[in-house]
Parts: sequence; structure tokens; C-alpha cells
Amino acid sequence: MDGMIKVALPKGRLGEKVYAMFAEAGFECPEVLDPGRKLIFTNEQAGVSYFWVKPTDVAVYVERGAADIGVAGKDILEEYRPDIYELLDLKTGMCRMAVAAKKGFADDRQKTLKVATKFPNAALRHYAQQGRAIDIIELHGSIELAPILGMSDVIVDIVETGKTLKENDLEVVETVFPISARLIANKASYQFKRARIHALTESLTAQIRNKAEF
Ligand code: PRP
Repeated sequence: MDGMIKVALPKGRLGEKVYAMFAEAGFECPEVLDPGRKLIFTNEQAGVSYFWVKPTDVAVYVERGAADIGVAGKDILEEYRPDIYELLDLKTGMCRMAVAAKKGFADDRQKTLKVATKFPNAALRHYAQQGRAIDIIELHGSIELAPILGMSDVIVDIVETGKTLKENDLEVVETVFPISARLIANKASYQFKRARIHALTESLTAQIRNKAEF
């Protein structure tokens, strides 16, 4: 396994898209796209081994060295700040972290702001920069319900198309940071497998550049 590059891919559409880019870079393993129960896919010839994990777990596998490289959203990297190298912005999976509230919401700065979110660290950092006192309500999904039911004043959440907000009479108050998928590497792997990781990064960079030109 030593000569292998171990890759943690985020389950789902983004992971499939990213796999296609890796395959074009010579890290092919068509078996990866086979639906089934298998968890690890290896192509000895190409010297690559893939496994699918929950998008929120990719950085854990990479930080701990179970994967040499992986693909994680900037949202996760900002939230957990894992000790990894961020090598490349893959310019895909674009969305943003935003503060949203019920239409017409006016912030009363005399009061502690109630913030519902799946991203407590990112939310705390954002409001600390503004010197704003907040009360975090941590949720794990359907965050939009919180302001609708009057449980929170605002949410800090991912906005992609804006459809979820619109359909629930919510609107963006401010953007916290833009999000896209990033290629990340384990720090030790980056030293020991530098040549192969570098070759992959070069190819991905060229692919991204070519796509931007068309
Ligand atoms: C995310 C996010 C929003 C939605 C935004 O939820 O939390 O709810 O997508 O997308 P849009 O702007 O295109 O409508 P996700 O689908 O991950 O599910 P969740 O409710 O479990 O967080």
C-alpha cells in the first residue's frame, strides 16, 4: 500500500465530479462509480486507492493520515480548522456561508442575537469579529425552521441557489464567506508522496484553467 495514493472522496454528486477530474489526471479506478456496498476501491496499476466517506468526515481521514489526500468544502475546513494542507481550489461545489433571517428582520443590537446553525465555530468567529453578543442554537439540519418558528433571530447556513430561503420567506442578510471544494493533503503524505501529489495538482490546475477558458 505504501506506493499508493489513498484518496478520501466525499459521497455524492460533488465526489463523482471530482473523481472524473482525478481520472483525467491518470488516477483512474472506474470501479469507484459502481453502486454497491464496497467501501474501498484500488487500481494497483494507477497506484491509487479510493474510499467514499461522508463529506463532513473527509478532513478527519486526511488529518489522521488514513487518506493521503481528499476533497472537502471550505465550509468544513473553516468550521473544524483541521491540521492539513489546503492545496487547490477546485472551483466546483460553489456556494456561500451566509446569515439569513425572515424578510424585513431588523437587528436590535441591545439584545443577544439568537443564531441557529450547523456551523457554530464559523458563526462564533463571524460575530466575534463584529463584537456582537450571540447565543448559538446548534442544529443538524433544516436550519431554516428555526427563525420561522421564532426559535432564532437568524441562521448561519449554506446558501447555494437561494431556493430554500426563498420558498420559506427568508432572505440573506450578509455573506460570511464564499465556499468551494478544496483539494487537501495530509502533512506527512505531502512530504513523502510529494511527486505524485504534485503531478495530480498540476493536472487538476490545467483542467480547471481549460474549463474556465470555454
Ligand atoms: C443545505 C443548506 C440549505 C440548502 C441551501 O441543506 O443547509 O438548507 O442546502 O441550498 P439552496 O440555496 O440551493 O436552496 P442540505 O441540503 O445540505 O440539508 P440540511 O437541511 O440537512 O442541512
